Amino acid sequence: MSKILISSALPYANGPNHLGHMRSTYIPADTYARYNRLKGNEVLFTCASDEHGTPIAVKAEHEGKTPMEIATRYHKMLKKDVEDCNISFDSFTRTTDKKHYEMAQKLFLKLYEKDYIYEKEIQQLYCEKCARFLPDRYVEGICPVCGADGARGDHCEMCGRHLEPTQLKEPHCLICDSTPKIRTSKHYFFKLTEFENQIKEWINNNKELDSNVRNYALNWLKDGLKDWILTRDMDWGIPVPLNGVEGKIIYVWGEAFIGYLSAAAQWSDKTNQPWIDYWNDKAVHFIGKDIIYHHSIFWPALLMAYSCNLPSNIVAGEFLSLEGQKMSTSRNWVIWVQDFLKYYDSDLLRYYLTINAPLNKDTDFSWDEFQRRVNDELADVLGNFLHRTFSFTKRFYNSKIPEKFELTKEDEDFENLIISAPEKIGNLIEAYKFRDGLREIIKLAKAGNKYFNDQEPWKTEKENPKKASTCLYLCNQLAKTIGILLQAYLPIKSKKILKILNIADEKSSNWDIAAEFLETGHKINKPKPLFKKIDDDEIAKRKEELLNNSKEVTTQEKEENKMGDLISIDDFGKIDLRVGKVIKAESVPKSDKLLKLQVDIKEKTLQIVAGLAKSYTPEELLNQKVIVIVNLKPAKLFGIESQGMLLATDDSVGLLTPQKGEIGEKIR
Ligand code: 2FM
Ligand code: ZN
Repeated sequence: MSKILISSALPYANGPNHLGHMRSTYIPADTYARYNRLKGNEVLFTCASDEHGTPIAVKAEHEGKTPMEIATRYHKMLKKDVEDCNISFDSFTRTTDKKHYEMAQKLFLKLYEKDYIYEKEIQQLYCEKCARFLPDRYVEGICPVCGADGARGDHCEMCGRHLEPTQLKEPHCLICDSTPKIRTSKHYFFKLTEFENQIKEWINNNKELDSNVRNYALNWLKDGLKDWILTRDMDWGIPVPLNGVEGKIIYVWGEAFIGYLSAAAQWSDKTNQPWIDYWNDKAVHFIGKDIIYHHSIFWPALLMAYSCNLPSNIVAGEFLSLEGQKMSTSRNWVIWVQDFLKYYDSDLLRYYLTINAPLNKDTDFSWDEFQRRVNDELADVLGNFLHRTFSFTKRFYNSKIPEKFELTKEDEDFENLIISAPEKIGNLIEAYKFRDGLREIIKLAKAGNKYFNDQEPWKTEKENPKKASTCLYLCNQLAKTIGILLQAYLPIKSKKILKILNIADEKSSNWDIAAEFLETGHKINKPKPLFKKIDDDEIAKRKEELLNNSKEVTTQEKEENKMGDLISIDDFGKIDLRVGKVIKAESVPKSDKLLKLQVDIKEKTLQIVAGLAKSYTPEELLNQKVIVIVNLKPAKLFGIESQGMLLATDDSVGLLTPQKGEIGEKIR
């Protein structure tokens, strides 16, 4: 038995959680925590909401509220999201808690005393119109490394490089769009460079680190590290704990990590157990891939400087896209956890997001695929196996586990499959291969169905009762094993299975006895169907909602921005507009919004999926001349490829048609 501290990346308290957060961080961390508890390890599973940082301060300004009011609002939402998904945190606190301030300031002071933090005057971007130093994320410009436009002051999305705002070419203030000026200010730097070799060594020698984390980190290290600025000129944050220093706070990334530990320390205050023992035995951080840099470089360096143990592992979940497109909260191309939970159990989400791809690969959420997995895998495979086992037991054996007789080769093979499952699946979870572990559980249910079919107990029950009895004896054992192992993945459904099996908590909360067999005569409870199928109409509604919601926000956003950002003539020149003609138009099944069109543009025919169905019938569009963007990257809309876009007014009631022009003619 060992102690283990498991953490999930701290969510920023400026919005609720969406499915991407659940996929990359919370669900895998929770699976790991639940598994470890079942293995008898002592788990301390921590998280907190990350409540400092400029976005929260800016949001507060916009709404005429204090940053604390904003943080409190979202802290409550974030907490509810994780609770409703049964993420079993032992401590979920806030970075505005007193304990967190104390610990963050202590870290800062200790590093200052040890001479790992030094003062330096630096030049920073200052927006005169907004009367503030511009935080990294509030400046955009051209990336000095790869030349991409729209690089942020701290990071370029294109090349993934960490940047300093003053490195940006042609910077502009994201709040007011004016060009910021450079001003001098005194700041505190952490001597990151001193730890370069140690970090390299740690990354190279840490056998637990997955290749996605290792490769990212080594790639950054190739270019060498720079010292890291650890303070900001701002009110909202943790004050720099040095005499005579006013108006400066510790940079949010310099204190957020401490949240893992301040959450643990608050748990200690409540339970009187020392959290440090957990940290020292083994610590595993679960994060999203966008913050690998911070966790593989900044955090270990801070810990080294403090002379503290390093985490055993950093597990980074990769991105989740939505219906084939990148998620975007500003376009509302996103599914919020609470919206999902209005219709479906959190276990279905946990299932889909775990089984869909390995954690270290990007994956997609699609409503069709979600429906297919629920119907084919959960209902038809797992649910069916369990239900037929329990119903047969009730009907023919008076709800009691029947007797086991002499085993045939097939019975023996099946029995061995059950006995070897806990170790096999446990090894996969210990190697952080959560998807493979869950797939093995589904494979067990598949094997159960096959065994049940092959044994034909509905026939042998009369012709060869011993055979039928052995079959049901073993099927119930498998159901029990599945029920126990599934607790790591699907806490609600597994509880239901164990309840039907009438297994007491103390007999089910141990992974290693998952394959200990129930005794003949053990009475089970009344079976209830465990998984309901989702029908096509329902899924069509979900897709429609997604489309409708994403539209609303775009319109609203445009109003907020009035004219939106200005683009250059060169940007406009990139758009290839042509005259086209609709040569085929059909509705899209189960969508009252979309139409699938074939549009002739002379050199080829483009397939275009357009949101016009509320305003036009397919017949009305046939033979219409239209204005088409022909050089748009093809995208899939609910599985149908769309190769261009038609110009129409915003809410698609008015399709724009050219008065003149030949098919295929360019529009300028
Ligand atoms: O990127 C983020 O969402 C940060 N709030 C994560 C912080 S994780 C850690 F450092 F605490
Ligand atoms: Zn400004």
